[in-house]
Amino acid sequence: MNVLPSRRNAVAEDKEPSAPSPPPSAHAAAPSKCLSGRCYVVTGAAQGVGEAVAQALAAAGAAGVTLVDVNAAKGEAVRASLAAAYGASLRAVFVEADLSSADACARAVAEHAAAFGGKCDGLVNCAATCARAGW
Ligand SMILES: NC(=O)c1ccc[n+]([C@@H]2O[C@H](COP(=O)([O-])OP(=O)(O)OC[C@H]3O[C@@H](n4cnc5c(N)ncnc54)[C@H](O)[C@@H]3O)[C@@H](O)[C@H]2O)c1
Repeated sequence: MNVLPSRRNAVAEDKEPSAPSPPPSAHAAAPSKCLSGRCYVVTGAAQGVGEAVAQALAAAGAAGVTLVDVNAAKGEAVRASLAAAYGASLRAVFVEADLSSADACARAVAEHAAAFGGKCDGLVNCAATCARAGW
C-alpha cells in the first residue's frame, strides 16, 4: 500500500532546520533616512511589541526615545539595554506612568518634552493589556 508522508514529514524533509533568530542588536537594521536623527515616544515599551518598536527605532538610527510604561523595573531595564547598545548616539529616557490616568499621560508628555526640547517626531502607542489565557 502506498502511504503518503504526513505534511509535517514532507516539510521536515524539504528544509534544513533553521537557526533561531538572532537577538535584536545595534546592527539589526540599516539606518533609515526618514527615522534617523528623530525622537519618539513609545508607550508600553517595557516589553512585547513596545519594546520591539523601541529597539527597531534605535536600530533605524533614531536619536532619542522616551519609553513609557507602568512597569518601572522592566522599563528601566529596556532603557539601560538601549543605552548600553547605542551609547551616545541614542538618548533613551524612561518615564514610569500608568497611562489609564490623564494626569500621568500629561506628565509623560511633559517629561519627554523636557528631555528633548519639545521635539517629538512620533508617538507609538503599545501600552495595553493582553489576555492570552485560553488562546
Ligand atoms: N503580541 C502580539 O503578537 C500582538 C499582536 C497583535 C496585537 N497586539 C496588541 O498589542 C498590544 C501590546 O501587546 P504586547 O504583546 O506587547 O503586550 P505586553 O503585555 O507584552 O506589553 C504591554 C505593555 O504595556 C504596559 N502597560 C499596560 N497597561 C499600561 C498602562 N495602563 N500604563 C502604562 N503601561 C501599561 C505593560 O506594563 C507592558 O509593558 C496589546 O493591545 C495586544 O493585544 C499584540
